Amino acid sequence: MVASDALDALSNAPPLYWAYYETKVYLSDSGLWLIWQQSALSDRVPLATGCPWQPLVQRLPLRAQIFRLAMRKALIAANWKCHGSLTMVDEYAAVLEHSQNAEIAVFPPAVFLARYASKAANRSDCGIQDLGVAVSGAHTGEIAGDMVRAVGGRWVIVGHSERRHDQMESDDLVAKKLNAAVNAGLRPILCIGETEQQRDAGNALAVVEHQLRVALAGINVSQIYAGAIAYEPIWAIGTGRTATPRQAQDMHVGIRAVLRSLDVDAALATRIIYGGSVNAENASALFSQADIDGALVGGASLQLDTFTRIIAAVA
Ligand code: 13P
Repeated sequence: MVASDALDALSNAPPLYWAYYETKVYLSDSGLWLIWQQSALSDRVPLATGCPWQPLVQRLPLRAQIFRLAMRKALIAANWKCHGSLTMVDEYAAVLEHSQNAEIAVFPPAVFLARYASKAANRSDCGIQDLGVAVSGAHTGEIAGDMVRAVGGRWVIVGHSERRHDQMESDDLVAKKLNAAVNAGLRPILCIGETEQQRDAGNALAVVEHQLRVALAGINVSQIYAGAIAYEPIWAIGTGRTATPRQAQDMHVGIRAVLRSLDVDAALATRIIYGGSVNAENASALFSQADIDGALVGGASLQLDTFTRIIAAVA
């Protein structure tokens, strides 16, 4: 069942009829998620019975629009790559704040992470751009997930195309890193995306699907709910040539279908964000697409003013 079917069912049903649906309630850092599956009408257990979140459930607005936001709160992430300074860390940490509409995560170079976390004091999140597979040991230069958490980092980018290409990270290594991330209790942003050649050859979806399936095979799929998948077509990264909203939306629908084939709840709950030349001008057209749940921003995240305009583009 796709999200829109669930929403249609909901918008035609007064609250009492909620009990007619098999409903799962998740309260997480990224919002309150109610996930439906239509089920036997005989199963009329009141939704809120014994539910620890009853007051929140009762406060939930009925309108499908608002409900949809509650299901997948936008994630706007700044990937600074190998840019930034202590001054920039202090400025961003002081200004950026999670909002009702969007969760914010900043990925400065690893050496700045502790400072970002302490200055931001949970007003926004931060994370690391890459993670070692080992938990500890003789692995010069590697950083383990527990260390990231110890300094206040909560997120990790896994499988960015620059690492796949520059550091020759294979799909299998990406799967191991994803596994290490979730085992350490970090929220992963798994990056997938095709080259221009692969797109021109008509293989974009097949490539992305392969990357996704190999990575997710290394974890329990439910472990991706709290993180996100970033679709980053390589031809759009740093080129100023963003995917059109239609191209991105089509791929996100394809990615969601792959998720659905693995786990229905993952398809509904997991944020699929877009990355590749997102800027303050094209952000709102991208975010208006039903399956684009935010952005992973590179170059345009290096100017605080531009990045805050991108955040403001979330409806
Ligand atoms: P740009 O926004 O600079 O294209 O980079 C996208 C990206 O790689 C984010 O991870």
